[in-house]
Amino acid sequence: MAFTVAIDGPAAAGKGTVSRAVAAHFGFAHLDTGLLYRAVAFRSLAGEDPIAAAQALVAEDLEAEGLRTQAIADEASKVASIPDVRSALVDFQRAFARRSGGAVLDGRDIGTVICPDAEAKLFVTASAEVRARRRWKELVERGIEAVFDEVLAEVKARDARDSSRMTAPLLAAEDAVRIDTSEFSIEEAVAAAVAAIDARLAG
Ligand code: DC
Repeated sequence: MAFTVAIDGPAAAGKGTVSRAVAAHFGFAHLDTGLLYRAVAFRSLAGEDPIAAAQALVAEDLEAEGLRTQAIADEASKVASIPDVRSALVDFQRAFARRSGGAVLDGRDIGTVICPDAEAKLFVTASAEVRARRRWKELVERGIEAVFDEVLAEVKARDARDSSRMTAPLLAAEDAVRIDTSEFSIEEAVAAAVAAIDARLAG
């Protein structure tokens, strides 16, 4: 049985945490599609043409060390605005989505562009302040010095870039269940997501 869960939303809204927990709960495979753009960014920063890098991308690239850095995130946001980069990554994502046994894909355009027919769609969001606070805390906990106002400005800049690009902007699908995690604990956010998916599985 193929059953696709599409989870979209901005950075640091809790999307990754919710996606991993949901995949574990239902026994579905999980693909963090941001890693695709990060892997392309990694090669692009090493001097490769981003479109060629996207066309040559293989699953092993997603396991490269160092994809989670801020420099890679910034470059990922840029390469993600190139239409030919995005289209080169479509087949990989769709094949993953339709594997038997169920799949959770999280990203920005999963419910709108990659898997418009997904059985369940969630849009996980939170206010920019809450997301910046989470990111700032995460950095500080990792021993990285960070100024909250700068983190907030960075979150807003990335939102603006991801939302305003011409190709596949960050946008909730019309039929997505919206989950605002601003006031939620991780457990509450996961419970809301599981309930929404349960409703689709039952229907
Ligand atoms: O979720 P993330 O921070 O790993 O994403 C990195 C960048 O890739 C981000 O700026 C948005 C972009 N992205 C995208 O355009 N489409 C996706 N499906 C996933 C990520």
